[in-house]
Amino acid sequence: MPSIASSPARSLDDAVRQFPAVRGYLAACTLGLPTSATIDALRTDLTSWSSGLSDATGYGRTVERVRTRYASLVHSPVETVAIGSQTSALVSVVAASAPDGAEVLCIDGDFSSLVAPFLVHADRGVTVRHVAIDDLAASIGPNTWLVAFSLVQSATGRIVDQDAVISAAHAAGALTLCDLTQATGWLPVDASRFDVTVCHAYKWLCAPRGVAFLTVARTLLETLRPVQAGWYSGEDVWASCYGPALHLSPDARRFDVSPAWQAWVGAEPVIDLFASLDAEAVHAHAVSLGDAMSEGLDIDPRGQAIITWPDRDGSELAKLTAAGITASGRAGRARVAFHLWNTQDDVRAALTALGR
Ligand SMILES: Cc1ncc(COP(=O)(O)O)c(C=O)c1O
Repeated sequence: MPSIASSPARSLDDAVRQFPAVRGYLAACTLGLPTSATIDALRTDLTSWSSGLSDATGYGRTVERVRTRYASLVHSPVETVAIGSQTSALVSVVAASAPDGAEVLCIDGDFSSLVAPFLVHADRGVTVRHVAIDDLAASIGPNTWLVAFSLVQSATGRIVDQDAVISAAHAAGALTLCDLTQATGWLPVDASRFDVTVCHAYKWLCAPRGVAFLTVARTLLETLRPVQAGWYSGEDVWASCYGPALHLSPDARRFDVSPAWQAWVGAEPVIDLFASLDAEAVHAHAVSLGDAMSEGLDIDPRGQAIITWPDRDGSELAKLTAAGITASGRAGRARVAFHLWNTQDDVRAALTALGR
């Protein structure tokens, strides 16, 4: 299989030029857009596959390069990064290891992929306590086994005060599980600060769907049960294809699931791209647009890239849609998101469509 040359961006402008010129696309929080390099990589792979030239070991090498770049993007040792296909399945690994009777603390209204995997363990006494985002740190108590939260909330765009949560969790002896899906790609993140993180890369990292990551602190490798173990959980996947033995890597690879190959081919150029960018510059760009949108809506600017406001009857979303703007509606709120390809023109167009 031909290898795809990565093209690291030297500047934000270089990066922006790699995205398609789609006007009014305010939906990175729903799904990101592919770069030209991702489109090329997928086309090349399709040609290679249909010519009988693709092979499993080549795809495996792609996965390892992406794992390494993701580790650098989230400032974590590569040995702590596992690969998967959805956050819900990765969170389920953590939930399966919750002791009987454990208390898990969540944010009320957090994304289901983070909450439901714990709720299904109710029959063995695992309880999920749902609290308001602003009360999360203060609600961590001596009985809390784990605090599980999305750093950026899908339904509101609110950002959790991670310093407060981490220090309260340490003080109480609770574990932290942070979902970075709505954060990595616009908000600088350091996954090594948490015991466990999960991230699906199809939104702000602009990868095809089916590329997800788990990071696990070394201290937890033996505590979490690799309930999804298979041929990819072995240290050498090609020596782990058959029983009767259980093959478990000594590092976080023990939590790997076999990759959806083509999705990883498309992910490589974009994970490379985001790992090569100045994270603070990407953040400043998204926040300048989010804050401008907030001001236009008379909402206090809070440094968010996702802006939401009440829209019970869907009329606000309908106005945006009628103006050719791609936005979304979640939990009775209209929702817009600002990423690399967006400009102040998008903010003005959205506010005009809303009559503000
Ligand atoms: C915070 C968060 N986590 C995860 C997901 C995706 O979940 P999954 O990977 O289980 O499809 C989303 C999608 O909107 C999300 O907002």
